[in-house]
Amino acid sequence: MESIGQPSFLRKIYFFFILQITLLIVLFAFFRGSKNLVQETDRSIESLLKPDDPLILILLWTFPGHLPFIKCPHHFDTNGCIFTTNRSLFSLADAVFIHHRDVYKSRNNLPQIKRPANQYWIWFDLESPTHSPNLTFMDKLFNLTMSYRADSDIFIPYGWLEKHDGSQNFSIPVKTKLVAWAVSNWKPHYRRVQYYEELKKHIHIDRYGRNQMSLPRGKHTEILSTYKFYLAFENSIHEDYITEKLWDKALISGTVPVVMGPPRENYERFIPPDSFIHVDDFSTAQKLAAYLMELDKDDKRYQQYFKWRSRYRPVVSISWMVLYCQALKEAPSYRAISSIAKWYK
Ligand SMILES: *[C@@H]1O[C@H](CO)[C@@H](O)[C@H](O)[C@H]1NC(C)=O
Ligand SMILES: *[C@@H]1O[C@H](CO)[C@@H](O)[C@H](O)[C@H]1NC(C)=O
Ligand SMILES: *[C@@H]1O[C@H](CO)[C@@H](O)[C@H](O)[C@H]1NC(C)=O
Ligand SMILES: *[C@@H]1O[C@H](CO)[C@@H](O)[C@H](O)[C@H]1NC(C)=O
Repeated sequence: MESIGQPSFLRKIYFFFILQITLLIVLFAFFRGSKNLVQETDRSIESLLKPDDPLILILLWTFPGHLPFIKCPHHFDTNGCIFTTNRSLFSLADAVFIHHRDVYKSRNNLPQIKRPANQYWIWFDLESPTHSPNLTFMDKLFNLTMSYRADSDIFIPYGWLEKHDGSQNFSIPVKTKLVAWAVSNWKPHYRRVQYYEELKKHIHIDRYGRNQMSLPRGKHTEILSTYKFYLAFENSIHEDYITEKLWDKALISGTVPVVMGPPRENYERFIPPDSFIHVDDFSTAQKLAAYLMELDKDDKRYQQYFKWRSRYRPVVSISWMVLYCQALKEAPSYRAISSIAKWYK
């Protein structure tokens, strides 16, 4: 994320305003699953809002419940942002986050109310361009982009590596199985499906997902960790489009990812070259299968794929809202995006 400009668009949200955001507090408490927080926040909120606190009011036009918004910042009292889903607060909001997936079906899903002069609209998407229809609806409306693409104004990757001091040694989970793949969106014409059909002729693959073995949400790390390899095959191929299939399913589970997605160089911008196997490294699926079986018989070589873990650990969740808040503070004071469609390809 770049720091480009001054936070001059920030406005102050005055004390009386806080009375209007009871909903937010309930939201906070709900998603933190803590009754105590409601009481605590109720009690302390007045003292938090000193008149010169540069709080930013962010309206989530729709609430993307399945997305990382639910990770509210703990320290929303210090130079923070206030998030709300109450559309009545539209004209007071410094920024409006609009989640593409929730609005693309019709232009009428976009705000129709007259927009305050300094309000930022932030276009937000985690799907790839292939699965982001009607991008032209977004022409001449937005000020900032937020997506998995590294050149977004607000870069929100599905995961990243964090340096650690080496004091915690990583040990490779006990392996009893060879290759796993979990897929819910099975489309016969997808490259990943065709590749899988070919690959499985040469190596055994356990398939999870719809009509297959089940991979319960809270258990996927435990289950997948018993596999030596995980097929992190993206549903479409786009620059930087590297999703939870790599981060969550493969790396967090402690398996070696076999990736299909953008070219190897693109992956290497985010993870070490020796942390993954790329399908493009092999001219055929059969050759890939032969390589995986070789590694299966050679522990020393297999373990090389974990060397990087003595320096880095994969991370998939932080307090995302803190990130959004910071990005808004660093945003340029004026910016207008004439076409998202021209960029998001
Ligand atoms: C939304 O904000 C308006 C205006 O402040 C307020 O009257 C209303 O009660 C709020 N709605 C909810 C659900 O909190
Ligand atoms: C794109 O917008 C049109 C309305 O302009 C709508 O009919 C169509 O269903 C939208 N596309 C998708 C995939 O929802
Ligand atoms: C980690 O491994 C190194 C080298 O094998 C060893 O010296 C160190 O004591 C280990 N640290 C922990 C916390 O186990
Ligand atoms: C945001 O973008 C819109 C449309 O592109 C533009 O009219 C508006 O002036 C911009 N606002 C800021 C604060 O940059």
